[in-house]
Amino acid sequence: MQNINIKDLVRPHIIDMKPYSSARLEYEGHEGIFLDANENSLGSVCGELHNRYPDPLQIKVKEKLAALENVDIDEIFLGNGSDECIDLLIRAFCEPEKDKIMICPPVFSMYEHSAHSQHIEVTEVLLIPETFQLDVKAIREKMNNVKIIFLCSPNNPTGNLFNDKDIEEILKSFNGLVLIDEAYHDFANNTSWIKRMKAFKNLAVIKTFSKAYGMADARLGMLYANAEIIHYLNTIKLPYNVSEYTQRLALTALDNIDQKNNFIQELINGRKYLQDELSKVSFIRKVYPSDANYILFKVDDADKLYQYLLSKKIIVRNRSKAPLCEGCLRVTVGTREENEKFINALNNYNS
Ligand SMILES: Cc1ncc(COP(=O)(O)O)c(C=O)c1O
Repeated sequence: MQNINIKDLVRPHIIDMKPYSSARLEYEGHEGIFLDANENSLGSVCGELHNRYPDPLQIKVKEKLAALENVDIDEIFLGNGSDECIDLLIRAFCEPEKDKIMICPPVFSMYEHSAHSQHIEVTEVLLIPETFQLDVKAIREKMNNVKIIFLCSPNNPTGNLFNDKDIEEILKSFNGLVLIDEAYHDFANNTSWIKRMKAFKNLAVIKTFSKAYGMADARLGMLYANAEIIHYLNTIKLPYNVSEYTQRLALTALDNIDQKNNFIQELINGRKYLQDELSKVSFIRKVYPSDANYILFKVDDADKLYQYLLSKKIIVRNRSKAPLCEGCLRVTVGTREENEKFINALNNYNS
């Protein structure tokens, strides 16, 4: 176990702050005449929705997630998408004009966006070209004043998992927090870093309902970390950051893990189909391996191919301006029919 004190990492003014005291935190019972929160006691204009404020700490959802991931309830934070978890982690631990975050591009741009919106500087260490693995030596050399290192594994947009031993070396050599974003982990054949949380006090792991669960619309993301980190996030979060509606949807989803597993299997099959077919297309220079539900591939003129696909009403992501991704497009695995239409369009392209 490392000798890291979370209290030394959190922004000092948060240490003694109390969470916002909402009506539903002050009185936690479920029975009674509720005249405490200025809700509409008569009901709701929208029959679907409840007239009461939701559980601010989403305990029922956390109970199910805790059982699923084999962690304690107080090791889980739920946010309005994992975007909110990312944003709050920076807000809790990074002091503007003093602390920095580190990212390893090409990567999901939300980490940088959240940091910049909070006036936090971003240190970049590029991935190793072509393998897209972590440059651990360079990361270790640039850790000065960094509070949080963001690692996205499987990485968006490259699709690959990072080597476990590299992540472990970073966790062991860094005195700040390491956030591993496992938004796409369900599509990879690898053990979640949640299992290593007891060994690394500075480890936080993000997951989401937006990908394998197919619930991007519900906006629900989870951050797993030791209870002290979660306590600070709960202290600064907005009182009712996850709606009752979303909490109910999550409970339904968590009773339906078989459906999620069926989706995963079908999307992995679709990924294999796309990888095989993309490798046969003569003008595609490289198809990168993927542990996620998308594939990055390289062509000579990404802009031209992107526009051609748009003209066929097929929308992929043009990542050709991202570092190390010259000529690259990223395609999400679709339904079987969508995948076939995409491949047909490529086969009819006049490069
Ligand atoms: C790596 C990664 N993390 C997090 C997210 C955000 O997920 P959410 O919908 O939970 O905010 C995304 C969205 O595309 C992503 O690619």
